[in-house]
Amino acid sequence: MPGSAKVRMVKGPAEVAVDGICHVLGSDVSGQVIAVRPGKALPFEPSGQCRLHLRFGRGGRMWLANPAGAGTTMWYDIARQVSVLADKKITVMLAGDTDTGKSTFSAYLANVALSRRVVPCVIDGDIGQGDLVPPASIGAAALSGPVTDLRDASASLFEFVGHISPAGYEYLVAKKLRSILERAAKLGDFSIVNTDGYVRDACAYKLMIAKELQPDVIVCFGENPTLFKALRDGPWQVLCARASSYVSKSRFERTRRRLDQFHRYIGRGSFTAKLRQLKFVYGEMVFSPLELRQPPIKQLERKNLKKMFVGLGSGDRVEGFGIVTDITTSIIRIQTDIAHFDRVYLSNIQLDRAEVVEIRL
Ligand SMILES: Nc1ncnc2c1ncn2[C@@H]1O[C@H](COP(=O)(O)OP(=O)(O)OP(=O)(O)O)[C@@H](O)[C@H]1O
Ligand SMILES: [Mg+2]
Repeated sequence: MPGSAKVRMVKGPAEVAVDGICHVLGSDVSGQVIAVRPGKALPFEPSGQCRLHLRFGRGGRMWLANPAGAGTTMWYDIARQVSVLADKKITVMLAGDTDTGKSTFSAYLANVALSRRVVPCVIDGDIGQGDLVPPASIGAAALSGPVTDLRDASASLFEFVGHISPAGYEYLVAKKLRSILERAAKLGDFSIVNTDGYVRDACAYKLMIAKELQPDVIVCFGENPTLFKALRDGPWQVLCARASSYVSKSRFERTRRRLDQFHRYIGRGSFTAKLRQLKFVYGEMVFSPLELRQPPIKQLERKNLKKMFVGLGSGDRVEGFGIVTDITTSIIRIQTDIAHFDRVYLSNIQLDRAEVVEIRL
């Protein structure tokens, strides 16, 4: 169990050279150099004579935090309680308000599972602020080694939602989560499903997700009696975890982290496909290219397709992402690293190098 010494919080951009014994979210980082991404705050938990040598980029900083609200001590019992259940196949769902620590806990719980030789599979259902996939998508990654930041893990399964907020698409998100959870069963025995911090109708939405996923355990973060009440009567066990101390992400940081995620996954290649060889998918609807002539939905209008962020895949599997750079009456050109695709998954998002525009079509 971690000690009660002060936690060293490091906010990125920063590089931390660890001289001595230290853990970050249950991952042993002794003697390592850890990069902390811009806008991300990581708890370093040193033991004994450990020294941290810090190099900050713009906006980076370090402060001492109380282990009652930072680091892993406050989550130690819950993580143990959940991970001992993982000698059989289990699904754990995380729910709570924004900035309560759900994503951070996912990484910690995955690291605890690894230390017990259980392969964790993290499913990132936060379509606005995901770590494993670009926004508007859901991803699943099995972890073979500990992580300090889930953005270092690579997802092998994807689902495409097409929206960066669940408002109006709650059911679509729940269905896609269920689909990826079923597919993720082959990746590992311990599925950790992170959800977004969406606040409107949060209880009904989280209950809908829980009913789709049928998790064994739901961990609720923060003081939220209404959420607890909404979830407590299901066939799952509900555990309450402390919210992390208040390190909210500013609007600017959220936008920047979201944009970074889009650009990380879009790729630098450019591929052209013949329209007649493609199908277009929006939500659960599938369109043939002939329908581009008289588009039944606005997403298929040429002016909206240009610069649209899209998912790309074959059959009914999303394999990657891209931006539409050109579309004529016969071809579509896409900036992406996916060379072969026969489905284009449409979204409500247009992307520029510098900004994300949500086109509420
Ligand atoms: N145990 C912790 N110790 C220290 N800082 C933490 C801890 N957990 C979370 N934080 C910090 O609090 C902030 C919010 O955490 P996190 O992003 O994990 O929350 P979230 O519930 O996933 O938020 P969202 O709903 O926006 O996805 C982050 O800056 C994170 O670094
Ligand atoms: Mg999160």
